[in-house]
Amino acid sequence: MSTLFSKSSPLSRDLKVTDEEFVQLRNFIYEQSGIFIAENRKYLVENRLSTRIKALNLKSFGEYYYYLRFDKDRKNELTKLFEVITTNETSFYRNPPQLKVFQEVVLTNTLAELRKKGQRRLRIWSAGCSTGEEPYTLAMILHEVLKTEILTWDIKITANDLSEAVLAAARRGLYSDYALRTTPKEIVAKYFIKKENVYEVDPKLKRLITFAPINLSDRVALKRNERSHIIFCRNVIIYFDDEMKRQVIESFYDNLLPGGCMLIGHSESLHNISRTFKPEHHAGTIVYRRQA
Ligand SMILES: C[S@@+](CC[C@H](N)C(=O)[O-])C[C@H]1O[C@@H](n2cnc3c(N)ncnc32)[C@H](O)[C@@H]1O
Repeated sequence: MSTLFSKSSPLSRDLKVTDEEFVQLRNFIYEQSGIFIAENRKYLVENRLSTRIKALNLKSFGEYYYYLRFDKDRKNELTKLFEVITTNETSFYRNPPQLKVFQEVVLTNTLAELRKKGQRRLRIWSAGCSTGEEPYTLAMILHEVLKTEILTWDIKITANDLSEAVLAAARRGLYSDYALRTTPKEIVAKYFIKKENVYEVDPKLKRLITFAPINLSDRVALKRNERSHIIFCRNVIIYFDDEMKRQVIESFYDNLLPGGCMLIGHSESLHNISRTFKPEHHAGTIVYRRQA
C-alpha cells in the first residue's frame, strides 16, 4: 500500500463491541461485501469501526449498526465502511516467482496465440487491485515484453476494488519507496518519475489501465465485466468464506475466454472451491486455466 491509510484512531480505542453488536456488524459486512470476519478477529471490528463511530458522533457499535441499516446517509456510510474494513496491503512486483511465470509463460503464450489468430486485442482483469501496484506492475511487464510493438496492440487492464479510497490513490499513481521495495532498480528508473520523496508512475502505464469500483459479491456486476484473457485476483479471496469464494471463482471462470488463465495469491488455494479449472504447476506458482 503506497499511502498509509489509518484504519483506527488512538482516541477511539476505548469503545468496546458487545458480542451481540459484533454478530450484527459481522453479518452486515458479510452481506454487503462477502468479507468474513471470524470470532477471533473481533478486535478488527472494534479498532477499525470505532473511527467511524467517533466521526459520526455516535455512542456505540449498536448505534452504528442502525446508522448503517436505516440512516438516510447510509449509502455514503457504506462506502466509508468498505474503506475501513478492507485490508489493502500490496506492493509493486509482489511475488516475483509468480510474475516471472506470468511474463515468460502466460503472457508470452497468450500473445503468441493471439498473433497466430491475427488478433491484437488483450484484456486483463486485476480484481481487488488495492492502491494500483498490481495493475501498474502488469502494465510494466507488458511494456517489457512488447516494447514498441505495444503501440500496435489494443490492451486494457481493468482494475477493480471495493474501496473508493484505494482506487483514488491508484488513479493518482504516486508512491513512496516502500511500495517499490521488491521492484528491480532498472524498472524503477524506467517507469517512474522521481519527485523528491515521491515516485510518480509513467503516464504510458496509466493509459493501459481503467480503474473502477466493483463489489465482488455482486454477481450481476461481475457478469457485466468484459471477458478477459487473464485474471489476477491475488490476496483477495483469503478474506471470504468458502461459499463466497465459490461464487467469485465461478464468476471468474465464466468471465475468462476459452484457454484463459487465472492467477491467485500464493497462500490461496482452489481446494474444495472449484474443480472446473485445469491447474498447471510451474516453479513457484499454479496457473489456473479455463479449457480452450
Ligand atoms: C490485500 S489487497 C490485495 C491487493 C493486490 N491484489 C495484491 O495482491 O497485492 C486485497 C484487496 O481486495 C479488496 N477487496 C476485498 N473485498 C472485496 C470485494 N468484495 N470486492 C472487491 N474488492 C474487494 C480490498 O479492498 C483490497 O484492496
